[in-house]
Amino acid sequence: MISTEYMGLKLSSPVIVASGPLTQNILSLKKAEEAGAGAVVLKSIFEEQIESDVSREMEESVEYLTHSSAEDFYASSSRDRYIDRYMKLLAEAKKTLSIPVIASVSAKTMDSWIDYAERFVKCGADGIELNYYPISSDASVSGADVDKRFLSFAQKARDAIDAPLSIKMGYKYSSLAYLISQLDRIGIDGLVLFNRFFRPDIDIEKIEIAAGSPVSQSDEYGEALRWIGLMSGEIKADLCGNTGIHDGASAVKMLLSGAKAVEVCTAVIQHGFSAITSINRFISEWMEKHGYNDTASFIGLLSQEHIDDGWKWERTQFLKTIGQ
Ligand SMILES: Cc1cc2nc3c(=O)[nH]c(=O)nc-3n(C[C@H](O)[C@H](O)[C@H](O)COP(=O)(O)O)c2cc1C
Repeated sequence: MISTEYMGLKLSSPVIVASGPLTQNILSLKKAEEAGAGAVVLKSIFEEQIESDVSREMEESVEYLTHSSAEDFYASSSRDRYIDRYMKLLAEAKKTLSIPVIASVSAKTMDSWIDYAERFVKCGADGIELNYYPISSDASVSGADVDKRFLSFAQKARDAIDAPLSIKMGYKYSSLAYLISQLDRIGIDGLVLFNRFFRPDIDIEKIEIAAGSPVSQSDEYGEALRWIGLMSGEIKADLCGNTGIHDGASAVKMLLSGAKAVEVCTAVIQHGFSAITSINRFISEWMEKHGYNDTASFIGLLSQEHIDDGWKWERTQFLKTIGQ
């Protein structure tokens, strides 16, 4: 039995297909379920993207938009079109799939975060994942203020959204332990550790900013593993491992450190939906080999709370030099 429970949702497998290119049409969503996914997170709705598309469309239609009220009407109806399209996919996914369907939101203003989330809950979303990571590049804003904004955002979202609620977050905060425990106190049901955000690069021939690799490497799971190991025994919120989980072994490691589930994206992009089946099979076989009948028997076995040498999760230095 590889079933698990994540933010109050019963999952037949701890493997969730992460928000991204594999969760933006119904065919892929069905394939994810058939391959054994425990849940799917739909591709995020990005307000930023909607706004830039809408303003481009408006520029192209400038000759028709002779009046400012016409512009406002055009902008708001175009925005609604995007949201309607998202809700259509969500409704179709809910009708077709029997696994939980989580909607993912990335908005710019608090009103939009809440508006989108409420609409998706009404439309049947089993949960809402907030894809939250404003980059803190303003040198006049302190780390404490960044945390305050994050927590105020989380509190408002919690107050408004009456559904299982998770935040998919980054790890570049001055005190993650503080932030995670405060998010837990606010009553966030799940924390996805950690999102892998867009990484900038430079094209040295064109001498311009370019996109870094969108996919992860298989050794990128360490930071999530560490923080799940450190925090899972201390909070009520469920943790979900993400980034660099490419195979069954890394999924088992996440569960041992205390994750209730894992989100995968790159593995499925690179190997197809059968990657989910392989991860599930590996978990089952590993459980059988080690004598575990259910995931609850080993989830968190190596969390800091449960082991004598839990200090190892805090280790940051290589104490011996290579070759010694
Ligand atoms: C092409 C692409 C698009 C993505 N789009 C989203 C998105 O819309 N929302 C989101 O929360 N994460 C998005 N992600 C991030 C993935 O959900 C995931 O967090 C990340 O790829 C790390 O997991 P992995 O190592 O299994 O790939 C995207 C990733 C890729 C590669």
